[in-house]
Amino acid sequence: MQFTVAIDGPAAAGKGTIAKAVAAHFGFAYLDTGLLYRATARKVLDGMDPVAAAKALLPQDFERAGLRTAKVGQAASKIAALPKVRAALVGFQQQFARRDGGAVLDGRDIGTVICPGAEVKLFVTASDEVRAHRRWLELSAGNEAVSEADVLAQLRERDARDRERATAPLKPADDALLLDTSGMSIDEAVAQAVALIAARM
Ligand code: C5P
Repeated sequence: MQFTVAIDGPAAAGKGTIAKAVAAHFGFAYLDTGLLYRATARKVLDGMDPVAAAKALLPQDFERAGLRTAKVGQAASKIAALPKVRAALVGFQQQFARRDGGAVLDGRDIGTVICPGAEVKLFVTASDEVRAHRRWLELSAGNEAVSEADVLAQLRERDARDRERATAPLKPADDALLLDTSGMSIDEAVAQAVALIAARM
């Protein structure tokens, strides 16, 4: 059985949490595609050429510590604007999406570019302030000393770069279902996503 759920949206909107929970609920495989760009960026910060880094990604690159820091996130959004970097990562994502047993992918261009034929497309959003607060809590728990105001500024900068790039910009697919998680708890957001997907199975 092939069934693809595409989940896109800006940083810290709740995509990852929802995607993981939805995958567990339906027994689907889950791919955090942001990790592909973060692992590539990590190699670039180590001095590697971005396109060579994307082409040479190995499973162990996703296990590296420090991929979820703000610094790697910013670097990821810069190399993610390079068409050749994106092209090097398409094949893996598309294969993952069509694996037998169902798949959930979250990212920025899953519904628009990677899986335009996905059975379900969700575009998850939340207000800038709510997203900044969530990301600040995450970073603080990971012992990154940052102010919430800095997190908000960085988030806006990264989203603007992701929205305004020429190749595969962050935007909802025409047939995406919008889910604004601003006023929702995690459980409420997951329950809504599960209901939206179940209605299309
Ligand atoms: O989702 P995450 O914050 O880990 O993504 C890091 C960066 O990788 C994003 O800001 C974006 O520039 C890039 N990205 C992308 N396309 C995806 C997933 C992530 O361009 N499908």
